[in-house]
Amino acid sequence: MAARKRGPSAAKPAAMMAEETKKSDEKAISPSLEDPSIKPSKIGQVLSVSVVFFGAFFYLAFYHYKIEKELRWSIFANSVLSFVGFGVTLVLIPVASKYVLRRNLFGYDINKKGTAQGSIKVPESLGIVVGIVFLVLAILFQYANFTSDSIWLVEYNAALASICFMVLLGFVDDVLDVPWRVKLVLPSFAALPLLMAYAGHTTIIVPKPLIPYVGIDVLDLGWVYKLYMGLLAVFCTNSINIHAGINGLEAGQTAVIAAAILIHNIMQIGASSDPEYKQAHAFSIYLAQPLLTTTLGLLCYNWYPSSVFVGDTYTYFAGMAMAVIGILAHFSETLLIFFLPQVLNFLASCPQLFGFIKCPRHRLPRFDPQTGLLTGTKDGTLVNIFLRLFGRCSEQSLCIRLLLFQALCCLFCFVLRYFLTGWYK
Ligand code: UD1
Ligand code: MG
Repeated sequence: MAARKRGPSAAKPAAMMAEETKKSDEKAISPSLEDPSIKPSKIGQVLSVSVVFFGAFFYLAFYHYKIEKELRWSIFANSVLSFVGFGVTLVLIPVASKYVLRRNLFGYDINKKGTAQGSIKVPESLGIVVGIVFLVLAILFQYANFTSDSIWLVEYNAALASICFMVLLGFVDDVLDVPWRVKLVLPSFAALPLLMAYAGHTTIIVPKPLIPYVGIDVLDLGWVYKLYMGLLAVFCTNSINIHAGINGLEAGQTAVIAAAILIHNIMQIGASSDPEYKQAHAFSIYLAQPLLTTTLGLLCYNWYPSSVFVGDTYTYFAGMAMAVIGILAHFSETLLIFFLPQVLNFLASCPQLFGFIKCPRHRLPRFDPQTGLLTGTKDGTLVNIFLRLFGRCSEQSLCIRLLLFQALCCLFCFVLRYFLTGWYK
């Protein structure tokens, strides 16, 4: 966050600085009514889209597929808990916004530079609220679903430890603004709890067309599998973080992918008769549902024009949550297709990320305050590529286009799976 200010200026006299620090400490302890309130949420817009999705999801889960009563009950309990999480996130974000602003955790909206909105201090790192609400829900949910001897319990808690560690490191990054090369490796530390506790299989099913060449149909990768898991966590977290900078994009892309994960899981559960396979996908639903609802709560404030920014706390948290979901439910290939826009954005970013071309602090489009339109720059991001391909547009239209593209990629993945099932694996 280049625009963030932290602490008083070094040029001020010591006495003045001490006085200011005292004042800011007093303010931090006793919230006052003078604090600027963040703008009303965009709950209407977010709910109208969400209702369509949840209608389809519940139809599949509770009517279309004949799923066992116990499993249905767990999914239902998880839904109820997740909706409570949505409400709690909605309530907590304005409260947390005041506290982060008082600690000088804010950013300026770069795509509004030159207008009145561009000079407003927008509270940063509100992903911390989503991360905490998500973790509390996921911890509470164990009571509703897992028995003490469940084999899932160890991995579930290891997954939560990794997500929690990622929230911590993301928040550290937001506060300390670590160099981005260090940012790249943070998720590999956060993934350690999961990698160390993982006792599941380390085998992959060889795609049918390759079996004649490999000679076997199941390949044990051993430690290489764990390396792959670590790399997937690093990719998912960073790829969400660098496909960002437009109001609503970070939370929006996560909501679309989480929705696709939920549909994929329920379809797999509905089509399978293997209890272990169903359990793996149910596990994925138990994490994806609270991820989706808490993200929607955040989106109510982060949608254009953003009243809050999500921060690296959120982008890392969301990436790690989706990575552990994909790893533990064994659908990482499908997950990578859901991540197609992020893969493309990463590929376009490679020359700048690896230092072949100069990489500025922010690789965002150019904003014209006269027309309110964005123009693509030469920086290698999908955001800029979209602007160059489809022409100048407003920030909100650009975000909607990018989210539609994300949804199309998810749809493409479902179609691909439909045609490849039986032939590929
Ligand atoms: C990554 C990107 C950077 C992009 C930034 C935007 C790489 C290598 N880094 O950096 O190019 O500019 O994300 O998040 O690709 N902001 C807005 N509008 C928004 C969201 C964010 O103006 O809708 C600005 C605000 O000033 C905010 C800042 O971006 O304070 C947050 O940037 P930060 O998340 O710290 O950037 P990085 O993740 O390091
Ligand atoms: Mg970021």
